[in-house]
Amino acid sequence: MFLSCEKLSKNYWVGDQKVTALDQVDFFVEKGEYVAIVGESGSGKSTLLNLIGMIDTPTEGRIYRNRFYDEMSEIEKARFRNKELGYVFQSFFVEPSYSVFRNVEIPLLIQGIDKEIRKKKVEEALESVGLVHRANHKASDLSGGERQRVCIARAIVTGPSLLLADEPCGNLDSNNTKGVLDLFQKLNDEGTTILMVTHSEIDAQRAKRIVRLMDGRIL
Ligand SMILES: Nc1ncnc2c1ncn2[C@@H]1O[C@H](COP(=O)(O)OP(=O)(O)OP(=O)(O)O)[C@@H](O)[C@H]1O
Ligand SMILES: [Mg+2]
Repeated sequence: MFLSCEKLSKNYWVGDQKVTALDQVDFFVEKGEYVAIVGESGSGKSTLLNLIGMIDTPTEGRIYRNRFYDEMSEIEKARFRNKELGYVFQSFFVEPSYSVFRNVEIPLLIQGIDKEIRKKKVEEALESVGLVHRANHKASDLSGGERQRVCIARAIVTGPSLLLADEPCGNLDSNNTKGVLDLFQKLNDEGTTILMVTHSEIDAQRAKRIVRLMDGRIL
């Protein structure tokens, strides 16, 4: 199994009130799958992605991808995140004071990749999201949709084996949405396993499988 989540639960405490964001979820993904995760606001979609993306740790249950996450050291997790995972965040974190080019280059800098190869890879990633012409602009000067696309370029620049995308088209018009979904399809055709959270039933249809969440459970 490429990725397995067993009996995954996540509880949050807000004062003395317990919020069960995920409730004993079993979720298995084969290599090369493209899964859309849909569900109402608050159903646990981002929570599930954040656990798989090692942004957060489960209250109960285990995640396995080559190894059990809870058996990896912090350094091993950091390396895994950098080398294997691409993460497109719902609230696209880009560094506003950096240029578009610099934002996308960061994961490659962490890997210690040579300058010439970095340049080529960053340009390819920007090309695939239609932002080459903005490469030298400061990220703070971009529109919301452009920032979202910078976030996508940064997630794919390393060629991750697993791409996690939380509402990647949430801020995009229909033209750019199509561009991103076409890009995801191409990456999936080339072997990237993709998990995409979306509110849109139409976008979800582009995936090979749809998983529905409700109140922290898979339907
Ligand atoms: N840090 C937190 N502290 C407390 N409660 C939280 C926290 N993060 C999420 N929750 C709660 O957990 C539940 C699931 O949240 P989650 O962000 O996973 O939903 P979602 O399906 O991604 O929703 P949306 O479509 O609005 O992004 C929600 O009820 C939310 O209020
Ligand atoms: Mg969410």
